[in-house]
Amino acid sequence: MKKVVFSGIQPTGNIHLGNYLGAVKNWVAQQAEKVNYFCIVDLHSLTIPQDPADLHFQTRSLAAVLLAAGINPDKCTLFIQSHVAAHAEAAWLLNCVTPLGWLQRMTQFKDKSVKQESVLTGLLDYPVLMAGDILLYDAHEVPVGEDQKQHVELTRDIAQRFNSLYEQGFFTIPQPVIPEVGARIMGLDDPTVKMSKSLAHIRGHAVRLLDDPDEIRRSIKRAVTDSGNEIRFSEEPERAGVNNLLVIYKAITGKSVAEVEADFANARGYGDLKTRVAEVVVESIAPIRQRYEQLLKEPAELDRLLARGAEQARTVATPKVDQMKEIMGLVLPA
Ligand code: AMP
Ligand code: TRP
Repeated sequence: MKKVVFSGIQPTGNIHLGNYLGAVKNWVAQQAEKVNYFCIVDLHSLTIPQDPADLHFQTRSLAAVLLAAGINPDKCTLFIQSHVAAHAEAAWLLNCVTPLGWLQRMTQFKDKSVKQESVLTGLLDYPVLMAGDILLYDAHEVPVGEDQKQHVELTRDIAQRFNSLYEQGFFTIPQPVIPEVGARIMGLDDPTVKMSKSLAHIRGHAVRLLDDPDEIRRSIKRAVTDSGNEIRFSEEPERAGVNNLLVIYKAITGKSVAEVEADFANARGYGDLKTRVAEVVVESIAPIRQRYEQLLKEPAELDRLLARGAEQARTVATPKVDQMKEIMGLVLPA
């Protein structure tokens, strides 16, 4: 039996190198070996106020980026979360087994809520919607970046609670799968904070997947480093900038720590490091942008692929949510 993999990505903000190396690249790499569901989680985006026209555009744009990055709809199920009604329904049902305290202690909720003038209920409930996403498909594995690990652990707790309240073994208990390299790409302008979609509009913060080669080179050239000249991996906070560039290089090339350090043994300072990191980044990302532009010229084809993905997802998610309702005591329509 093939393992089932579920992962999601929000359509808001600019998809960047951290998303690519921490998530998308790994999705693409394993799509043939496993049963994969990749979901554009538009309902999650609504937990922070959005401009409707923007959200609409970005959702289709992200679908095109993912296809351009190598997600193959013949090998996996790519769909938009709101196209499959079972996700919102499952979130409600799971809300009714999830203690409030579990949500209040989520780090991401605490971080995001201090940045909001008024905190929406949906923001607190975000991890329950995410639990529904994963549990509807009985996913074994959830490939995510480090920041999402706590949410996957909460999903396990919710699943276990549901199983013990209603039916042992009903939900598969999922595992978070965190990539060894690339799990946490840091901001180029500030290597002490994670590269983030919500900061990706700031010049020099991120390499965005749709940047042109010159923009990519410029952002990497401006990356914050330190006053030294030693090019090696390091956990020291002062050296986080150089370390981040090496992590990016390592994640893209797939080389070992020793091989990466050997590649830079003769480099002349950080300028050289930046030039070479920029070259590998441009080489891996430039083709994505080209394919993306092609796909945007064929909107009907994009819609067709997304409709097919949603149809496939529904065949799994709808019966599962109906079973949830049934064992919770709801009356299914005759
Ligand atoms: P998000 O940008 O929050 O929608 O995240 C989409 C996926 O990218 C999730 O699996 C995240 O864990 C991952 N991700 C986001 N930012 C980074 C980062 N800076 N480094 C590595 N992975 C990331
Ligand atoms: N919360 C995830 C993020 O911001 C996105 C997400 C929603 C997700 N549902 C998911 C990831 C289910 C994995 C599985 O990155």
